[in-house]
Amino acid sequence: MDKNKIIEREKGLAGKRIGVFGKGGSGKSTVVVLLARNLRQRGYDVCILDADSTNIGMPGALGIDRAPKTLIDYFGGMVFSGGSVTCPVDDPTPLPGAEFSLEELPSEFYARSKDGITLLEAGKIGDQGPGAGCDGPIAKVARDIKIRQNGEQPVTLVDFKAGFEDSARGVITSLDWAVVVVDPTVAAVEMAANMKDMVRQIKDGVLPATDHLESPELVEWANKIFGQARIKGVLIVLNNVRDEETGEYLRSRLAEKGIEPVGVIHAQTTIAISWLKGLPIEAPNTQEEVSRIVDALETAVNLDIKT
Ligand SMILES: Nc1ncnc2c1ncn2[C@@H]1O[C@H](COP(=O)(O)OP(=O)(O)OP(=O)(O)O)[C@@H](O)[C@H]1O
Ligand SMILES: [Mg+2]
Repeated sequence: MDKNKIIEREKGLAGKRIGVFGKGGSGKSTVVVLLARNLRQRGYDVCILDADSTNIGMPGALGIDRAPKTLIDYFGGMVFSGGSVTCPVDDPTPLPGAEFSLEELPSEFYARSKDGITLLEAGKIGDQGPGAGCDGPIAKVARDIKIRQNGEQPVTLVDFKAGFEDSARGVITSLDWAVVVVDPTVAAVEMAANMKDMVRQIKDGVLPATDHLESPELVEWANKIFGQARIKGVLIVLNNVRDEETGEYLRSRLAEKGIEPVGVIHAQTTIAISWLKGLPIEAPNTQEEVSRIVDALETAVNLDIKT
């Protein structure tokens, strides 16, 4: 009885949107899969939104045979091919119908892994043909969709494409928390600091670039979306760390920038082999490491709820 109560109290992540960022190949998708599994073990309903407009590995990493149809198709296709979904830089207005419940979404637009993780894909640029335009409309889907369901709300983990482009398009504004994955490179350390700074600026009320927008209504929308940003903060996770020396080096470089990572996932040969073969991620020795990261997320959210 008491145990149930504890689990109930700890489910502060239900209904939250957590975006995972980092430089190319840092381990974003790996971290998303490992976080999703841990959250499932804690009794959460979990949705992964694959918002990487290029890579196609997520279904395999979750043990899902067939990728679901993409949400960009569900919402009517990209504007560059005559569809209705626009790029958020040219048109910051919200995507109509973006808040939907899983029960009303046709089943071909999501898939479920054996361990009960729901996967949705925002869109892929590779199937749009040469000269398809830019992937901005896919970022708009990622920015705006809010997945609901009957009963307790799912945690949504958003796996973004590498780098800052989607952040600059405003995807951070609709997240509750951002996780930045830092692999053992100086570029990843720099990116973590930049992301922290970007989120601090949004929270301080810095508005987006709008000089290119001609209509005052669009400028107003862009400012409104940034002005009402939900993002609370950034958590940093080290990944693919081979030895203590490397971990210590990364920690000291981050400390110089006032950053303390919430956890580390060490390098595991099985993880690399899983990605090599397109098989479900096997990471037998990461349970405790991943659990510490989810604890940090829960603590961050619970502290925020209390204040
Ligand atoms: N903890 C780890 N241990 C061993 N190898 C890892 C680990 N994390 C990531 N890798 C290796 O790094 C590669 C990239 O990982 P992953 O696909 O998770 O990164 P990503 O940031 O999502 O990449 P992309 O920017 O291409 O989307 C994997 O194919 C794997 O070989
Ligand atoms: Mg990835």
